[in-house]
Amino acid sequence: MENVEKCACGNEKHDEKLEAILKKYKQDKSNLIQILNEVQETYGYIPKKAQEEISKYLNMSMAEVYGVITFYSRFTLEPKGKYNIAVCLGTACFVKGSEKVLDKVKELLKIDVGQTTEDGLFSIEATRCIGACGLAPVFTVNEEVYGKATPEMVEQVINKYKEEAKNV
Ligand code: FES
Repeated sequence: MENVEKCACGNEKHDEKLEAILKKYKQDKSNLIQILNEVQETYGYIPKKAQEEISKYLNMSMAEVYGVITFYSRFTLEPKGKYNIAVCLGTACFVKGSEKVLDKVKELLKIDVGQTTEDGLFSIEATRCIGACGLAPVFTVNEEVYGKATPEMVEQVINKYKEEAKNV
């Protein structure tokens, strides 16, 4: 899914989108977060190839770049699933048990936050307050908001989307 074309000789062609992003910034480590933000926005995740190019460009090790990506939950290493489940871990939701909701999502999908199921259907995200505290605990599936969430409800909702995916 990486946006890197292969030419006839088998070598990877230069990724022009990535090059355009890098060109905007000076080759200074302090620009890492901004570059990662743009790459995340452009690709929906931070492809391996982009990590390599960024580390070369900023003269940083891959481990340093990887460390920053994994530190911030807004950066992801895989494309999001067709259904992205985002559980709010803001204060109001947390107090009302959103961690249990998140644990149930992880248990049912057998993946962690920031990962995508092998079939590409679901991904999990942990978010800050989404401004629906009155409905806490809250999670969303793409644009759809689910309030007063319980682990049981999570199971029903996931099953609903599995069914929907089968019928598409
Ligand atoms: S804390 Fe979850 S919606 Fe505000």
